[in-house]
Amino acid sequence: METEIAGWLSVVFRFIHVIAAIMWIGNSLLFTWMEINLIAAQPDEEKRGKLGHLDMLHGGGVFHLEKRLIDPAKIPVPLHWFMWQSYTTWISGALLLVSVFYIHGGAALLNADSQDLQGWGAIGLSVAGILGWWAVYDTIWRSKLKELPKIAIPLTLILLMGAAFLFNQWFNGRALYLQIGAMLGTSMSANVFIHIIRNQKKFMASLAEGKAHDMKYGKAAKTRSLHNHYITFPVLFMMLSAHFPQVTSAAQKVPILAVIILALMCVKHLMNVRTKFRYWAVSIFGTFIVACLLIAGLLAVPSSTSATSDPAVEAGAKLFVSQGCAACHQEGSAQLGPSLQGVFGKKEELADGTTVQVDEAYLRQSIREPQAKVVKGFAAAMPPYAHLSEKEVDELVAYLKSL
Ligand code: HEC
Repeated sequence: METEIAGWLSVVFRFIHVIAAIMWIGNSLLFTWMEINLIAAQPDEEKRGKLGHLDMLHGGGVFHLEKRLIDPAKIPVPLHWFMWQSYTTWISGALLLVSVFYIHGGAALLNADSQDLQGWGAIGLSVAGILGWWAVYDTIWRSKLKELPKIAIPLTLILLMGAAFLFNQWFNGRALYLQIGAMLGTSMSANVFIHIIRNQKKFMASLAEGKAHDMKYGKAAKTRSLHNHYITFPVLFMMLSAHFPQVTSAAQKVPILAVIILALMCVKHLMNVRTKFRYWAVSIFGTFIVACLLIAGLLAVPSSTSATSDPAVEAGAKLFVSQGCAACHQEGSAQLGPSLQGVFGKKEELADGTTVQVDEAYLRQSIREPQAKVVKGFAAAMPPYAHLSEKEVDELVAYLKSL
């Protein structure tokens, strides 16, 4: 029952999260596009407070848009603020994190080598990572380093990858990508809440006191806006990464993540400079090819012989693909069977209303005679794998336990 409620809640939270994120990111992309395409004001117009203008065809008419300083004597009413898209995305994302990963004591976060870390420890680690990342990022960009972006940007990215490397010690691939996505997403929302909106409130207050429009508040918020803008594509990739198990289950998942983040930031930049840089389109294509080659190279690196590589688990992982298990069980649109992430040790509700503890015997039976115990909510669609040898079943079970 508890699993079922959590399942339905995650449907609701996921839908709200996706809609809110589309609204937030859509706004962010449109506002940046407007800034880039704004036709700068003539010097005489500038004296009257005009910064630029833009005409946009939509909905059977032209939006004639003017960007201007606000005259304290004529504060427009209504004046639209943009923040709830961001806050709704964060709140629904946090609820989703709880209903997908923190439920069942956080077992869904861990990888096979983390038996020593209890689930609650994993939840603590995940929350500490999210809050800690904000503290680190915000400290760097409040310090004097913010005047030196050539140092601050690489430093921020190196620290982020350091965090990914650390989490990779305990978290499984899917949870790792989502953890880094949640850390960055939280920082994006905190940028809106703490820097962008607060600065807007400050300058609106100073206007209300009759003081002239002060651009310094806007400048302070702009750096954070720009960070949010550049990190949008990487965060979207991480949020969707459950659909890319080829990447999240790779041995070199951390370096691959670094390549993806850098490549997507590069693509965003090339899109931004397209009015000034002739070769933007071909450069995006080049970035894509270079990223693909790097990722292909990283995928070809065999997993290290450290504690993570148990030969039975690796053989099981290969069987999982070669026997067609992945076709039905890998998360994605064509998924017919239940997700097997963190299946070992959990309590499974069956179609006949009983509950079983998932242990080795249950996993073996699920493979050999899947019709014997059918998981609630699923059709008895899994073919029996009676032809597999005992060793092969052992290897598959070892692999399932590692998920
Ligand atoms: C044609 C699709 C299909 C294929 C192929 C398939 N399965 Fe399944 N599997 C299902 C479905 C549907 C269920 C849920 C119904 C049931 O329990 O029989 C399931 C259930 C399971 C369960 C029980 C899961 C739980 O949450 O209790 C395990 C374990 C499992 N499969 C492992 C495997 C393995 C290992 C292979 C490959 C050797 C495999 N499956 C191949 C569709 C498939």
